[in-house]
Amino acid sequence: MRIDILTLFPEMFTGVFGCSIISRAVKGGYLELHTHDIRDYSTDKHRRVDDYPFGGGAGMVMMVEPIARCIEQLKSERKYDLVLFMAPDGKTFDQNYANRLSLQENIMILCGHYKGVDERVRELFIDEEVSIGDYVLSGGEIAAMAIVDAVARIIPGVLHDETSALLDSFQDGLLSAPVYTRPADYQGYKVPEILLSGHQKKIDDWRLEQQLKRTQERRPDLLEDI
Ligand code: ADE
Repeated sequence: MRIDILTLFPEMFTGVFGCSIISRAVKGGYLELHTHDIRDYSTDKHRRVDDYPFGGGAGMVMMVEPIARCIEQLKSERKYDLVLFMAPDGKTFDQNYANRLSLQENIMILCGHYKGVDERVRELFIDEEVSIGDYVLSGGEIAAMAIVDAVARIIPGVLHDETSALLDSFQDGLLSAPVYTRPADYQGYKVPEILLSGHQKKIDDWRLEQQLKRTQERRPDLLEDI
């Protein structure tokens, strides 16, 4: 899978893409990540990519031309399954959304900044608008990183233990069961006895019970969807 990210701040991605599961996915050849600086597509001598909004108002608006040139350049090189735009007024990202994206071959993600992007970008070039939650970030970059992370870890082969992504919170519509490791007794706070029993069937039953209990307590709305 290949993901191209269009941004005014490509340097924001270097740390996140160079660590942990995302870098493992890249190094293992499961995921190709490319960032593109939208300023490189400006024809202005000061590399301007934004301008004042028509009709007045606060904040600057990202111009259509540099973004259009960048998208068209990429589209001339390969076919894209989806062009996404990160926006707080988009469809809310969730595990099902991540699962669907992980099945695509080539995706483009446009990150907005300032007051927004010229509406014609959204009308002409964007297939889906995606939000990571009901709050406003200063730009789409952090949201795009969240999406890349959620997608990278479910590409088959990326995680060593094939089952671990499948046992995630939300993957089966339930929250995860609690997990423990050594020591079995931390200052009198003991690991549930059942997990030390070696009885796998009983452990699996206990975990499912815990999942249901947690989901009921913390996110009863998820149970309505099952
Ligand atoms: N850009 C600004 N806020 C955002 C959000 N909540 N989700 C996605 N992109 C954004």
